Amino acid sequence: MKISVIGAGNMGSGFVKQLANAGHTVLVTARNSEKATEVAKANGATAVDAKTAATADLIVLATAYGDAVAALQSLGDISGKTVIDITNPLTADYMGLTIGHNTSAAEEIAKAVPGINIVKAFNTVFAQVLAGGSTLPSGEQVQVFVASDDTGAKETVTTVAADLGFKVIDAGRLKNARYLEAVAGFNIYLGYGAGLGTAIAPSWAGLQA
Ligand SMILES: NC(=O)c1ccc[n+]([C@@H]2O[C@H](COP(=O)([O-])OP(=O)(O)OC[C@H]3O[C@@H](n4cnc5c(N)ncnc54)[C@H](OP(=O)(O)O)[C@@H]3O)[C@@H](O)[C@H]2O)c1
Repeated sequence: MKISVIGAGNMGSGFVKQLANAGHTVLVTARNSEKATEVAKANGATAVDAKTAATADLIVLATAYGDAVAALQSLGDISGKTVIDITNPLTADYMGLTIGHNTSAAEEIAKAVPGINIVKAFNTVFAQVLAGGSTLPSGEQVQVFVASDDTGAKETVTTVAADLGFKVIDAGRLKNARYLEAVAGFNIYLGYGAGLGTAIAPSWAGLQA
């Protein structure tokens, strides 16, 4: 599949690496084109401008939440495209969420960029975990929670995540991004606030195989 990654930071570079390793045609775009070129070169991907990034079948939105709407709008008309929203609306100290309970980053992005098929996923996976793939140093398979109002888009993201080796959990409608963003916030607290480190990931126990 042709997949564009928007952002070449911690998460963007992890996606470029894992998606390219899995055999996808990966395009990467970033505000800093030198960074995009560097990440592309290291992983057999192609650095492109925003308009070219819009030609992909699937778009991974890997910017800060505050930059997300502008980043998507810079692609031009992407109506009908599937967009994976990995963002968490974090406070400046990373120890809280700026929105939640009655909305979520995913729902706000969906409202601001109408016509896209947005899928909340991967926001609970630390960049350090993604860089290593779908298995934690402990040997456990990492779970990815996938929420969307669009069934086809959710299926696409489920297939891509499962192909990368993740255990995919159907998290229901996009509204459940409110829960997923809070889970990510708690994961950040455990990893950084409580000092457990970043080789951890939220996992739901007791599921049928
Ligand atoms: N880090 C984690 O462990 C983790 C885990 C799960 C989810 N997340 C979420 O994933 C997102 C990215 O996190 P990160 O740690 O990868 O952040 P990061 O390292 O700061 O990377 C963000 C990237 O987005 C780029 N960007 C900003 N505006 C853009 C635009 N208009 N067009 C193209 N690129 C743009 C930035 O470019 P510049 O360098 O020019 O600013 C930067 O390369 C955040 O929403 C975060 O909450 C992070």
